[in-house]
Amino acid sequence: MNKLIAPSILAADFGNLQRDVEMVNNSKADWFHIDIMDGVFVPNISFGMPVLKAISSHANKTIDVHLMIVDPDRYISTFADLGADVLTVHYEACTHLHRTIQAIKASGMKAGVALNPHTPISVLEDIITDLDLVCIMSVNPGFGGQSFIENTYKKVTQLKQLITETNSNTLIEIDGGVTNKNAKQLVDAGADVLVAGSFVFKSDNPTETIADLKSICN
Ligand code: DX5
Ligand code: ZN
Repeated sequence: MNKLIAPSILAADFGNLQRDVEMVNNSKADWFHIDIMDGVFVPNISFGMPVLKAISSHANKTIDVHLMIVDPDRYISTFADLGADVLTVHYEACTHLHRTIQAIKASGMKAGVALNPHTPISVLEDIITDLDLVCIMSVNPGFGGQSFIENTYKKVTQLKQLITETNSNTLIEIDGGVTNKNAKQLVDAGADVLVAGSFVFKSDNPTETIADLKSICN
């Protein structure tokens, strides 16, 4: 299967947002990864609806929104209206996860669940067949530029096994500290989508860095 690269706009230059969105449009990237942080679920605030609206108006690839917010049910239809194609909520933020997932799908989006580094894969056993995507956090959510947590490989293998056993049609996404050093091992373990923020946007040539990641994975 074609492995996907999703540059994280959190690491873009917000003073040149349109330029950076167009760089992704014209690159080998597959998706835009958009991090929404509320300062409550995570100790940081990123950006909100008006900025996503501006990104959507220029982006011509799949928009993958990662909600790091409490009570995400409040905003599902808002994110659908803003152009999100995939909407991912945190397992740790959802008391009624099944209901939330159904609401995301009913709004016409693909539904994802993100797991913090301490949350085991086993919590997804009774919902995996409903999920379009599982995002394994390979850093503690809240900030770009952190180092990759090595325990992630084990979780990818476990999740891949769960997906295979249950005959589910679920993509495995990895988010945090992804570089050309860990990309191949992640894909070999079963990852389908690699999010990369700092590694792409802080490099000398982001377009080339995206192409390199894409070729490492495929
Ligand atoms: C972290 C975010 C990530 C972040 C990744 O909370 O969910 O998507 O932007 O950034 P890097 O690739 O720099 O770790
Ligand atoms: Zn993210």
